Amino acid sequence: MEAIEELERKVKQGAVPKHVGIIMDGNGRWAEARGLPRLEGHREGSTSVREVTRSARRLGLQALTLYAFSSQNWSRPPDEVAGLMELLRDYLLKERDEIMDNGVKLNAIGELEKLPKYVKEPLDALRAESAKNQGLVLTLALSYGGREELLHAMRALAARVATGAMALDDITEEAVTAALWTNDLPPVDLVIRSSGEHRLSNFLVWQSSYAEFLFSPIAWPDFRAKEFAEALLHFQTRERRFGLTGAQLRQAGT
Ligand code: FPP
Repeated sequence: MEAIEELERKVKQGAVPKHVGIIMDGNGRWAEARGLPRLEGHREGSTSVREVTRSARRLGLQALTLYAFSSQNWSRPPDEVAGLMELLRDYLLKERDEIMDNGVKLNAIGELEKLPKYVKEPLDALRAESAKNQGLVLTLALSYGGREELLHAMRALAARVATGAMALDDITEEAVTAALWTNDLPPVDLVIRSSGEHRLSNFLVWQSSYAEFLFSPIAWPDFRAKEFAEALLHFQTRERRFGLTGAQLRQAGT
């Protein structure tokens, strides 16, 4: 088996994506397949979060966005929701030193006001404390939905038009992008989904329009630095055309 250092060295020789989004799927099935409670899958998934974040840092990504809890996940059984919230709180408390020592800027997107106080408080504290850090921007999508985000942006833009602060023609692609919760992040280059499903599930709906997609059969608790590096190596084989032809791209590159 190829050592992780060797894999990461290969990744760094090519074009490293600036911004990767991950749909961390398969925790529940991973646990169920082992006769464990679903929460054990989420717990093991937190270790993957830690490992993949470290790898993203080593590889020099600008931004990593993790889909940790969707707007729709509130409808899961209350004990699973509570367990996930506790895991998030534990993560925020335990990860504080590593985040600060490595210049990571912690960011969050979603309807954050819906989070319980015992998550919201450590989240806000670490966001504030790490706000000036210059390294990897680690964004947790929490109580997040892409459609909800777009609705929020549409309402904000409509309100500005209604008060006359903005003209209808000023609602451009740039204005919509700027009204999203992700407005200070670079465009998403790659969306990875673990565990074999081929869906976007309301993740970065607007932002992923020109992203590459990589669907891995590996369940999130088993998706570690090696799988992440392999995903980036695969990304490097893709030709991103942004609506142009391959010949046009090659011409522009010469
Ligand atoms: C989807 O798997 C995963 C989630 C709903 C939660 C993701 C949360 C974590 C990885 C841990 C906490 C996060 C951080 C940032 C520390 P699923 O349960 O839907 O899997 P299934 O499809 O197999 O049931």
